[in-house]
Amino acid sequence: MQAGRLITFEGGEGSGKSTQARLLAEILRAQGHRVTLTREPGGTPLAEAIRELVLGNWAEGMDGVTELLLMFAARAAHLHGLIQPALAQGQIVICDRFIDSSHAYQGGGQGIDGTHLAALEALVMPTLRIDLTFILDLPVAQGLARARARGQTNRFEDVHTSFMQRVREAFLQRAAQFPDRCAVIDASAPRAAVTRAIEDRVAALLQQKAH
Ligand code: TMP
Repeated sequence: MQAGRLITFEGGEGSGKSTQARLLAEILRAQGHRVTLTREPGGTPLAEAIRELVLGNWAEGMDGVTELLLMFAARAAHLHGLIQPALAQGQIVICDRFIDSSHAYQGGGQGIDGTHLAALEALVMPTLRIDLTFILDLPVAQGLARARARGQTNRFEDVHTSFMQRVREAFLQRAAQFPDRCAVIDASAPRAAVTRAIEDRVAALLQQKAH
């Protein structure tokens, strides 16, 4: 029994998902909900330290398996230290990236077989329910241009466009595989329209009885 709600934001670089996650947290708090806004990799001191490893200087030349295991190590620490306690208290947890990013980047991008991802998923999050996932979808060139204009490129943003194309396709595949949980949002629409679409979908979720 999961008392709270878990809402995740996914998408490629420059899709605006972090901004939208923050805006949704503000809207829900203004409505009186208790909200935890967090991100992956990261979200707790330990998981943020792992983020430094996997996205910082050590990332140079890191092999795909090490990267995959560090992403899941960060996720295990995050679930244990923050997400599960907040859900048990009945909070709405909004997470900027989650499991679908592993499928998109390590699976689609790096080409790691889905069976390995499924095994780690079964180990790290056997009973977790994600209530809603927004996949902010944008043509790769547009997303990378936005990310570069922000000056916030990390090592994944620096890699080749074809990698990001595979990432995008993997996100869309996940959406097709889990249509009840995933909502694909056109991230090229004006920011306010994106926020409204997200807000409507969340309102519908919150009207449903917790199960
Ligand atoms: P972001 O904070 O700008 O979204 O950057 C996080 C980076 O980490 C992004 O390039 C995607 C990557 N990532 C993975 O490759 N696998 C994962 O499971 C997660 C959560 C993130």
